[in-house]
Amino acid sequence: MKSPDTSAAPTLDPVAVLKGLASLRRLTGTYPAGHPSIVQKTAEILDALARQFRVSREVRIDIIHGQVYLDGVSFDRDVQGQAPIINELVALGVDSVHFRDGVQAEELLAAAECLWQQERSDASSLDAQLAARGVRSISLGRLVPLDTRWRAQQWPDAPTGPLDPAYAESLVRAQETFEQVSNGKRLDPLTIGDLVQLLLTRVARSNAALGQILAVKQYENLTYAHSVNVSLLSLIIARHAGVDDATLAAIVEAALLHDIGKTRIPLDIVKKPGALDKRERKIIEDHTTYGAEILAQTDGLRPLTPTVALEHHRAVAGAGYPDLQNAVPNIMSQLVSVADIYEAITGARSYQDPTPPERACLILARLAGDKLNTALVKAFVKAVTPFPMGSLVRTNRDEFGVVVETNENDPLHPIIALTESSFEAPLTRLDTSTRDDAGTYVRHIVETLPAAESFDIRRFLPAA
Ligand SMILES: [Fe+2]
Repeated sequence: MKSPDTSAAPTLDPVAVLKGLASLRRLTGTYPAGHPSIVQKTAEILDALARQFRVSREVRIDIIHGQVYLDGVSFDRDVQGQAPIINELVALGVDSVHFRDGVQAEELLAAAECLWQQERSDASSLDAQLAARGVRSISLGRLVPLDTRWRAQQWPDAPTGPLDPAYAESLVRAQETFEQVSNGKRLDPLTIGDLVQLLLTRVARSNAALGQILAVKQYENLTYAHSVNVSLLSLIIARHAGVDDATLAAIVEAALLHDIGKTRIPLDIVKKPGALDKRERKIIEDHTTYGAEILAQTDGLRPLTPTVALEHHRAVAGAGYPDLQNAVPNIMSQLVSVADIYEAITGARSYQDPTPPERACLILARLAGDKLNTALVKAFVKAVTPFPMGSLVRTNRDEFGVVVETNENDPLHPIIALTESSFEAPLTRLDTSTRDDAGTYVRHIVETLPAAESFDIRRFLPAA
């Protein structure tokens, strides 16, 4: 069986959905219920959503500073001409529209009518109005930093619970290095060289460590943990792309230091929960140029390390920051960008739960082309798979397991260690790609589960 072609996954245009909702609002205010224009518009919106529900149970569209986000990822296509429609909704106090699978035409109509009756910029009553009309699958509201409607969960700053020893050591060393640079000390190339060797020789060879980096992460990692993870993920992509050993070390070094410029950004901005304002966004964006500066001033690093720090937020099509006109980023920067985005979305954010890998792979596929290098996304998704090693999963037979090996030819059916729902210890090894006499799969994986803090991956996967 061929690996799934995630590039063919349905892609919802969130701007089209917002436009649809805004026109439905006007139509319900203009025509009587049941008018053909209303029926048609409702069907159009439901149709677009239905395609997306095949890959995720919820569609979250948020407008943050005039930019549209689909499931937490900036949607920067078709920006021209979308401003009036966005402003119309924002003026009504709505900058967050979430739809859940199973949404009905009546619910959509009720939401459009509530919006029509909404006169002032006050979204606080919208929830109550929707609830009163029995709307369960749509939420409309205002997205503001620290909005209490959002679960303001405090995530830990780094991985907790039992860690692979080599991975734990690399985190401690990276933390020390980043803290020293924050405190104004010079970056020491020898320390970096040692850390690169530790990552290449020990961490990368530990299945337990890789499992902890690839699976969904129940923490909001600070720059050093993010950097260690991105360097390992970059290494995985590079290995899969057939890169030679000397270049592998250069990639690990560049990925490890890609965000070093964040050491010059005030921590309250780096860690700010919720959306950043324009000034704060500009400050954060400067981490790319600061990083390039710090690295260019450090003797003994590899030549492309500053380049990757400068370019890792630039899109292959030339957009992104810093503004370098249409310069196409170096292939090494393109590679680190793929790892960077996967790492960021599979980790927690103050305002959002972590995205499980199966959805993160689809998000990468959606970004391939304009933003990310398609070949590198394919190499990554093929290597990581939607259910990467270390993932806690549930099967359609309500069995629980930990992915211990992926099937290269059948990425949706990995080998798992069956376990109890407490995920305490492995019971037996099971190949989920097994089929019955009729050629039908005996089981499927239906979801990824979050790991409890006590979960010890070393009981399931060999450590370094
Ligand atoms: Fe960055």
